[in-house]
Amino acid sequence: MPRFRFLTAGESHGKGLTVIIDGVPAGLTLDEDQVASELKRRQCGYGRGSRMKIEQDRAEILSGVRHGVTTGSPISLLIWNRDWENWREVMAVSAAEEETARVTRPRPGHADLAGAIKYGLNDIRPVMERASARETAARVAAGAVARRFVEEIGVEIHSHTLAIGGEWTNTRGSIDWQQVERSAVRCADAEAEKGMIAAIDRAISSGDTVGGVCEIIASGVPVGLGSHVQWDRRLDGIVAQAVMSINSVKGVEIGDGFKLANLKGSEAHDVIEVSQRSPYPWSRPTNHAGGIEGGISNGEPVIVRAAVKPIPTLGKPLPSLDLSTWETVEAHFERSDVCVVPSVGVIAEAMLAIVLADALLEKFGGDSMEETKRNHSNYLDSIQRRR
Ligand SMILES: Cc1cc2nc3c(=O)[nH]c(=O)nc-3n(C[C@H](O)[C@H](O)[C@H](O)COP(=O)(O)O)c2cc1C
Repeated sequence: MPRFRFLTAGESHGKGLTVIIDGVPAGLTLDEDQVASELKRRQCGYGRGSRMKIEQDRAEILSGVRHGVTTGSPISLLIWNRDWENWREVMAVSAAEEETARVTRPRPGHADLAGAIKYGLNDIRPVMERASARETAARVAAGAVARRFVEEIGVEIHSHTLAIGGEWTNTRGSIDWQQVERSAVRCADAEAEKGMIAAIDRAISSGDTVGGVCEIIASGVPVGLGSHVQWDRRLDGIVAQAVMSINSVKGVEIGDGFKLANLKGSEAHDVIEVSQRSPYPWSRPTNHAGGIEGGISNGEPVIVRAAVKPIPTLGKPLPSLDLSTWETVEAHFERSDVCVVPSVGVIAEAMLAIVLADALLEKFGGDSMEETKRNHSNYLDSIQRRR
């Protein structure tokens, strides 16, 4: 059973989203502003739709925190939907007096067709509402709590955009994270940023959408998280599942990923050198492995890349069928984003924070932050003593 567990509930246009998080030790400082700033980062980015202006998400902490500090009890968070007024009838909980308009034209690229068939529905609305990436706001809220926890162990997590609509950055090596946060597409390379924005503009004017690639980097991850001993304990597999579960992510790489397939063994692996470097008595001059070898973190930064498909709801809708008449029609259209690659970076940071929080708790345990930190620090001392 995971140590850091969470479950989300809520529909895209329902009253709100809720998330319950279990397993956070007592003694972690946490406030609503820290969660709000992560939610705001998720909402930003050139190419997001008008809904972002309505939402201005904020999570209320309902339990598990007292006087700004976690108590060890489950933490529950609630994000109200500020657009609920406009959806009261369509999304009413009680039986409707009048039938609301049904959605019967599935959008290619969404869960619409398979979901309606699987759940035996003649209205696609319930599938659209839960399959929507609105749910990722709840994940980002959970991720904000996980981030607070991993920060205490010295783990920092960032993300940036590598490509949008085929426009790539050449950024390699150290990245200016403040510049990334200022960029409309979360890219530190100003030239590439211009190309990415132009690609989004071209998509907008032609009623189309664009995808891309983002990279997520966690530094300060201690050696020894995850395990080689069972398939479902391998950290690379757990990270890949968490990032792949984000709506519209279709590929995940760790370290040099697919590129490694073309290299020779002598070029692909990271040599091990004896060193006095803290916190470990060794160093790795390269990090092709992306911080994970044999399913175990190796002390180097964990590097993950996610390929994001273009948004499926198009200004010029794709051909589909009508589930009520079985005639060929244009797919349903509803207000939509044009590019979400920058947001996916932020959501993937949250998912990586959650995975690392769980792996840290598995390794170091602790019912209080003091206990977790003591166990972590004893572990690091024991590594130095091996030499
Ligand atoms: C932050 C975010 C916002 C999204 N906004 C939209 C949107 O406005 N319209 C849309 O059609 N798809 C949107 N998507 C994409 C769909 O959620 C996604 O394509 C859909 O869930 C199917 O993808 P899947 O097969 O990966 O689940 C968004 C995705 C993310 C991550």
